[in-house]
Amino acid sequence: MNSNEVRQKFLKFFSAKGGPASSGRGHKILPSSSLIPENDPSVLFTTAGMQQFKPYYTAPENAVRDFGGKNVVTVQKCVRTSDIDEVGDDTHHTFLEMLGNFSFGGYGKEEAIKYSHEFITKELGLKISYVTFYQGEGMVPRDEESAKIWKKLGINDTRPDGSDVFWGPTGDSGPCGPTTEIYCRNASGNDVEIWNIVFTEYFCDGSREKLNRGQAKLSKLTTLGIDTGMGFERLVSIIQNKKSNYETDLFNGEQTREERIVIDHTRTALFLISDGVTPSNTGRGYVLRRLIRRAVRFSKDPLNSKIEKIKKIYAGIYKLDDKGEIKKEEKKFRETLEKGMKEFEKGTDPFILFTTYGFPVELTEELAKERGTMIDREDFDKKMAEHQKLSQTSSAGMFKGGLANHEPQTIKLHTAHHLLLAALQNVVDKNIKQRGSNINAERLRMDFLCDHKLTDEEKKKVEEWMNDKIKQNLAVVRKEMPLAEAEKIGAQMEFGAKYPEIVSVYFIGSSPDAEGDAVSIEFCGGPHVANTGELRTFKIQKEEAVAQGIRRIKAILL
Ligand code: SER
Repeated sequence: MNSNEVRQKFLKFFSAKGGPASSGRGHKILPSSSLIPENDPSVLFTTAGMQQFKPYYTAPENAVRDFGGKNVVTVQKCVRTSDIDEVGDDTHHTFLEMLGNFSFGGYGKEEAIKYSHEFITKELGLKISYVTFYQGEGMVPRDEESAKIWKKLGINDTRPDGSDVFWGPTGDSGPCGPTTEIYCRNASGNDVEIWNIVFTEYFCDGSREKLNRGQAKLSKLTTLGIDTGMGFERLVSIIQNKKSNYETDLFNGEQTREERIVIDHTRTALFLISDGVTPSNTGRGYVLRRLIRRAVRFSKDPLNSKIEKIKKIYAGIYKLDDKGEIKKEEKKFRETLEKGMKEFEKGTDPFILFTTYGFPVELTEELAKERGTMIDREDFDKKMAEHQKLSQTSSAGMFKGGLANHEPQTIKLHTAHHLLLAALQNVVDKNIKQRGSNINAERLRMDFLCDHKLTDEEKKKVEEWMNDKIKQNLAVVRKEMPLAEAEKIGAQMEFGAKYPEIVSVYFIGSSPDAEGDAVSIEFCGGPHVANTGELRTFKIQKEEAVAQGIRRIKAILL
């Protein structure tokens, strides 16, 4: 049976009306919801089939209104990053599909268990190794009833279990309840959990973490709900008698841990982008970025061929389109990956690895773990919080410096201003310090400490130096780094200014990240042009004294 036949068989089994052993199953087939949960802002991704049905467990009467009945069935796309460290083994993924049947007051425990038993043993012809049931705790009693139903069906190996078989809630509150889980033997001879049947009998007023800590309360729902979820990839591997999920027709036989991570993460990224997520530094976008960058780290080859393979596998089942986003993100990261790895080996601060080389902190953590060390996560989080504060203040315009506006010509003159300070230090006196600046769309003005009037020869040399650097098309690159680091590399700073712990620094240089051979390094909030070539021609208009030991240059760009 190929994987799509399994999907179809499941939907057909639960939507079918009648039949001797299971009369009146009649579930309505509904489409998978998006990976971005629509009715629950407290969760990042859809992690379970029941997610789109959360409101119906507390208001089951609405099911008939919305679905024309009390029972529905779906094949749901899910993203779960909680098992990311396990990806690479035979059975764990960050993206998975779940086959699920749901009932909002339509049927109870006995039918739910009978349906799953019939589907597994009769429709699929598989043998159930054993099942679990909830042993009970607090207000939730031991689920002897499920154990009895299983025994009546001939499954005698029923095992009591604890909090592993109490499911939910998802997000910061919601329906939840005890479960019974079905285990089947795979081709490696291991019993793996394939189906989780939840008896949604309770509502929890806090998250699962709070419930575990005793800080959330359960209350009994008026109507018992059914929520089941069967891990599709695992089920297919058992049906196709494969030792790993990667040997089924949902993959390409990936063998090594690295190959598996690459295909798994690329697949998840492709599904996420197709549902509207884009890489960024927060929330869903950050998870997506992490996945792509982790895939890149483990893949020497471009991810493109993987994307094509995945699209082929899901052709006609899901519409997948990454809109070039994966390639874009991959390119960005590959440019700094090698250099970042070298920096990592040198023991560079995880915060610098993040801001300068694009290493998600989880990646740095993982690299450290591989080498038997650890990073100071608290320190990273502290720097990150500072960094965000700085980005907020600079975007609010507090670091506009001497810029009159953000017109293109003003921005060009701003970059020229940085270059000019470097020119004066190179041509006139390496100890020259800036004392004031003012820039508008017409000209730049710089005041600087210098003990003499510039000679005509010096002015000419400054102009030549400037125009030479302009012609070289040097990259202008912004980086954020700890203040101490910036001071260490000799970044020019404003006299008397108080800088935050994390500072923004502009580099002008010929290497792609401009740092290796920078001709100018300055503390600055920007903005700047990307490339000095945009400045065209630099010309000094006036050089004069403004006070004892302070000179002023006015200059323009032609
Ligand atoms: N909600 C349960 C799970 O995700 C059953 O569908 O496992």
